[in-house]
Amino acid sequence: MNVAEIRKSALEDVKKAKNVKALEVIRVKYLGRKDGELTKILRSLKDLSVAERKEIGPAANELRGDLEEAFSKKLKEFSASSKRGVVGIDITMPGKKIAVGHLHPLTIIENRIKEIFNSLNFSVVEGPEAETDYYNFDALNIPANHPARDMWDTFWIDSKKLLRTHTSPMQIRYMEKHQPPFQIIVPGRVFRFEATDASHEINFHQVEGLMVGERVTLANFKYVITEFFRQFFGPGTHVRFRPSYFPFVEPGLEVDVMLNGNWLEVMGAGMVHPKVFDAVRYNPRKIRGFAFGMGLERLAMIKYKIPDIRLFYSGDLRFTNQF
Ligand code: DAH
Repeated sequence: MNVAEIRKSALEDVKKAKNVKALEVIRVKYLGRKDGELTKILRSLKDLSVAERKEIGPAANELRGDLEEAFSKKLKEFSASSKRGVVGIDITMPGKKIAVGHLHPLTIIENRIKEIFNSLNFSVVEGPEAETDYYNFDALNIPANHPARDMWDTFWIDSKKLLRTHTSPMQIRYMEKHQPPFQIIVPGRVFRFEATDASHEINFHQVEGLMVGERVTLANFKYVITEFFRQFFGPGTHVRFRPSYFPFVEPGLEVDVMLNGNWLEVMGAGMVHPKVFDAVRYNPRKIRGFAFGMGLERLAMIKYKIPDIRLFYSGDLRFTNQF
């Protein structure tokens, strides 16, 4: 075939091509590297006389340009029609993003705490949010009319029932039903009748801890809690123990951790008071234990640098989606 014949037959073929595959076959037939009709002519130019080359060369090169254009035009036609699609669906349109759910920051913190204490052989138990004054106060050595009750601003349901102000009542409920030795943690929601501000909420969460046995000492407490905070905040974390007062422990302590150069109070604790063991008919001469309680929100606020406790319950997705 000469250049003119190739032009005619190639353009005809392209016009008739039904799909991308057929078009490719045609492209190979005329422009294929090895045996393409036009390629053969282009390749032979160097063997022609000067006169012939002057005549055929430009025509062949022009045809190559025209063919390439015809192929790419046809290819665009195919892709445009496939976009419209057989059933009118634009298959090139980006799909809808599926929003994947995720855990609330408090759940993440609670899971982490459970994981660490599980690794220290503590079990996880839970208790009721509506309590009696006996479990929330009396059995914890906080009798009616005792000024220590002022430490917990209480939502009373009636003169006996209340919303638990801390998770400590589960110490009593658990010891009533189990014999030592044991070690437990009790995560749960608690309530306080308080004015809310950036660091106070009327409902928040605590994790209580209790380890009881014949030879449990403050040294065991210091080890377990230091280990806990180092796993929680990082291996180098400094932990400090200060004397404090809670009616259900003696001695009572508060625990601080050092973060970014500041001591932050993160936990109340102590050795279980003999009166608490009396309430569950353990023999305080034989049995001892340590107890502790910490606020989940406070730990989450420290860990994630959250400035306001009310954000946890705002339901604001701009907040929760950050975790
Ligand atoms: N229940 C205390 C509170 O809510 C925290 C606490 C302090 C718990 C000392 C304990 C403890 O178990 O030993 O403020």
